Amino acid sequence: IKREKIKSLLNTTDFNREVSVMGWVKTFRNNQFIALNDGSCMGNLQIVVDFNNTAEELLKRITTGAAIAIKGQLVESLGKGQRVEVKATSVEILGDSDPEKFPLQPKKHSLEFLREIAHLRFRTNTFNAVFKIRHALAFAVHQFYNERGFVYMHTPVITASDAEGAGEMFRVTTLDFDQTPRTEDGKVDFSEDFFGRATNLTVSGQLEGELAAMAFGEIYTFGPTFRAENSNTTRHLAEFWMIEPEVAFADLEDNMQLAEDMMKYLISYAREHCREELEFLNNRLLEEEKNKPQQERSELSLLEKLDFCVNNDFQRLTYTEAIAILKSSKPNQKKQFKYIINEWGADLQSEHERYLVEKHFKKPVILTDYPADIKSFYMRQNEPDSEGRRTVAAMDVLFPGIGEMIGGSQREERMDRLTQRMDELNIPQEELWWYLDTRRFGTAPHSGFGLGFERLILFVTGMTNIRDVIAFPRFPKNAEF
Ligand code: 4AD
Ligand code: MG
Repeated sequence: IKREKIKSLLNTTDFNREVSVMGWVKTFRNNQFIALNDGSCMGNLQIVVDFNNTAEELLKRITTGAAIAIKGQLVESLGKGQRVEVKATSVEILGDSDPEKFPLQPKKHSLEFLREIAHLRFRTNTFNAVFKIRHALAFAVHQFYNERGFVYMHTPVITASDAEGAGEMFRVTTLDFDQTPRTEDGKVDFSEDFFGRATNLTVSGQLEGELAAMAFGEIYTFGPTFRAENSNTTRHLAEFWMIEPEVAFADLEDNMQLAEDMMKYLISYAREHCREELEFLNNRLLEEEKNKPQQERSELSLLEKLDFCVNNDFQRLTYTEAIAILKSSKPNQKKQFKYIINEWGADLQSEHERYLVEKHFKKPVILTDYPADIKSFYMRQNEPDSEGRRTVAAMDVLFPGIGEMIGGSQREERMDRLTQRMDELNIPQEELWWYLDTRRFGTAPHSGFGLGFERLILFVTGMTNIRDVIAFPRFPKNAEF
């Protein structure tokens, strides 16, 4: 008979029939009751073993972590805690799990411990929930853009350009540096390299996305991006996934609207399609909150936070307005910030972003019109303000508990302005000739942004470390699994 998934059996009312299930043993009590999980849901199926008629040898091998196959009678359960159970007629061990060595015991493990065994942590309820939500959100991203007629572009992972101009790239090479000839000034000669030039892993698919948008009108990318920056924080990864829409004939206002609509759509999607997982994570957090002193507990539960974001408009303000708020804020006046905001032009740190969203506005915030000097070369230049200060049509979407969730801008579509800025920043025009072609041939206003997928998952799941929302996190000194 055909194997059935535990999820469907837990919800069925079609009792008193023969079923076949397979899964991993969570617990085995009194030589009689197996809690079996097959990953289809967080819930376990209770299997009742007829221990009088089962060989001692076999019973010993039903241990936490073992993979087993069960055939038996599906019946309505009389016991407390479950609706259904299977009275086993056959138990087969597919794969043993030595109870002395299996690291996942049937108890609550710390997330730190589970991070050390990332290859096994999928088997816990917490990670089952997190990765189901990750899956659902990835699907929802495609659904959102597909419904709006955007074209999904696959942009290259290996590139020769630095889209952000921040120099945080991982080099890709086939050269053996020990044996590579150097040029006269001692630099590595890349002409012998696979591509005949220096290449790196992409930091963003934006530049290629812009080219496509200038033909299709509306596109998005969704792929892995890489940054060799200091990612030893709970918000940074060296390898993360980014969603980057790019829209022709759209200005910053349109861009903000798209970002807000998308965030609300994605959060609502999770609320609707991941009820069980979200409720589990919500309760997990409530338990944790109980151990905290009253004043450190959050005002809203996870589910309330998600609903709040869906039901309220995001606060929009300019960088200049934000600086004024921050300057006169209590933590700035009392020097509680690590970086004190003294003047216009300072880059905002995550402590400032979080002050704005968590303490001041208490809702998601979209900050716009940043100083040109702290943003990338491709952003559209605004007219200097009354004090002659130069800003760009940038936007960052800030979220409670996260800080920067999205970064984007209207793009500089005017060739002369763009090349002038590239010259100022010493970005060689020859290297980006293909990018500049879009400004040469039928240039048009366009805008886009990048959403850090793991930061979205952090927010939706209420997890606090970004290393817990990607299966195999990449960060400094760690690429074990
Ligand atoms: O602000 P960023 O650097 O913007 C860009 O890359 C633009 N090219 C996007 C665009 O306009 N198409 O990155 C965008 C988002 C950030 O807001 C953040 O959510 C996420 O990507 N991000 C990271 N997430 C995890 N780890 C890192 N090291 C990240 N760096 C950026
Ligand atoms: Mg940014």
